[in-house]
Amino acid sequence: MYTPYPENMMESIKKVEASRQARMATEPRRLTADEKDNLLKEFHPDYKPEAFAEIKVGPNKGEKAPLELANMLHSTSRICGENIDLTKVDYDVDVLVIGGGGAGSSCAIEAHEAGANVMIVTKLRIGDANTMMAEGGIQAADKENDSPVQHYLDCFGGGHFAAKPELVKKLVMEAPDAIKWLNELGVEFDKEEDGTMITTHGGGTSRKRMHAAKDYSGAEIMRTLRDEVINRGIPVVEFTSAVELIKDDKGQVAGAVLLNMETGDYMVARAKTVVIATGGAGRMHYQGFPTSNHYGATADGLVLGYRAGAKLLYQDSIQYHPTGAIYPSQILGALVTEKVRSVGAQLVNGEGEAYIHPLETRDVNASGVIRECAEGRGVDVPGGAKGVWLDTPMIEILGGEGTIEKRIPAMFRMYMNYGIDMRKVPILIYPTLHYQNGGLEIGGDGFTKNIENLLVAGEAVGGIHGRNRLMGNSLLDIIVFGRNAGKAAAKKSQEVTLGELTLSHIEDYAKELKAAGVETNEVSPLLLPKYARHER
Ligand code: FUM
Repeated sequence: MYTPYPENMMESIKKVEASRQARMATEPRRLTADEKDNLLKEFHPDYKPEAFAEIKVGPNKGEKAPLELANMLHSTSRICGENIDLTKVDYDVDVLVIGGGGAGSSCAIEAHEAGANVMIVTKLRIGDANTMMAEGGIQAADKENDSPVQHYLDCFGGGHFAAKPELVKKLVMEAPDAIKWLNELGVEFDKEEDGTMITTHGGGTSRKRMHAAKDYSGAEIMRTLRDEVINRGIPVVEFTSAVELIKDDKGQVAGAVLLNMETGDYMVARAKTVVIATGGAGRMHYQGFPTSNHYGATADGLVLGYRAGAKLLYQDSIQYHPTGAIYPSQILGALVTEKVRSVGAQLVNGEGEAYIHPLETRDVNASGVIRECAEGRGVDVPGGAKGVWLDTPMIEILGGEGTIEKRIPAMFRMYMNYGIDMRKVPILIYPTLHYQNGGLEIGGDGFTKNIENLLVAGEAVGGIHGRNRLMGNSLLDIIVFGRNAGKAAAKKSQEVTLGELTLSHIEDYAKELKAAGVETNEVSPLLLPKYARHER
């Protein structure tokens, strides 16, 4: 007999198998709006007041943020006490892009295309980013039965009607062109023999509009963007972090202080426009959650922008992906793509019950998993955690033998590494910290509202997705808003004349912290997770 799991799990699997036929005959019903609201209020981690703190200074003073983020906003600047000589400029460019992921790369490509002198600075290597980790796909309404209006309604509703309409409009209207652009750059999307793109559903989509490259869509997109950056000869300064923005004496953003991560030396980059494209915050491990995020996802851009006076939006709204791996421990928190559910797997509790529709929006499904575990219908995992099943053998029953290897090969390999054949047995999952719904506020043109010459793109932006993002809208937003930021930053840089460089806003912020009675022993931005080894 095939027994890849401990005894208690194998016992629970018997119940999953016993209920499978009946579950396949009747799909779980969709929850009503009230049922969803109640589930969220009771079980979603965003509703735990003790996990949040009040922001004491800056443009969002008085609002709440996750404890760990508030702590970073209240920490001391890394350059406090350092002698940064702003007259010695190490890099002088039109457009400085901070971050080498999908948003930063798209941005740099378009700025370069527009003729700007653009440079990317990234604390790890180009492509070391959440884009690389994205699996399930990218949304775009480019089929006959679909439209950007339909896409808008899904996105706006899924985000609890909190998204900024002008940003959602841009996202959905420019989505078909984003796919075309990527396709022409060389992304190998899944296609039928006649070249038609294969599209599937994601949670909360009313049409099949998820374009994918198997279940490594982000890696395929990042590979292509990275090649394009390199082929164009765009300078990329790797292993170098932006640690503060620089302004000029007119109050415009005018560059950044850079830290060489290997030598510890500081450098000055002067720029006529700056784009923050620093990605997410999973490695802050809000509320102790494991994460699906890249090693460098530490909310740096939020801290940089905030100290310079840019406003945050929905910084208290975090996405926990319903299906992170909870067993085996070697892959704790790793993303189990929503595509596993798109191609047929149900969410099933330890009693073998399909307790929820598998393609509710993410916040709802994550809350559902947490509820099942909290109320005793989860499966015990060694070490004290709990999880519920994703009934993956259903995929092969519904789609035919070979579907798993064909459609979700990365998932198949990830589990086979630990002797778990997901074609034969279900896999155990629990929510994982996946995405920051909030970030720095921008207008439809990509510029921050109140800081001249500062743009933001990608996961560091707040407001595109409201208070919950749908699957596949992040790979989309990094392309749409990344490209837009590159074009806009290049254009604006032609009009900018910089004055004398200054870091006085950093001193002012420190004074504000002191006046608010904030005491701290920590420095920010974090740059690397707290468990990173610092060896030089
Ligand atoms: O489940 C996933 O593949 C994740 C996709 C996303 O966050 O957009």
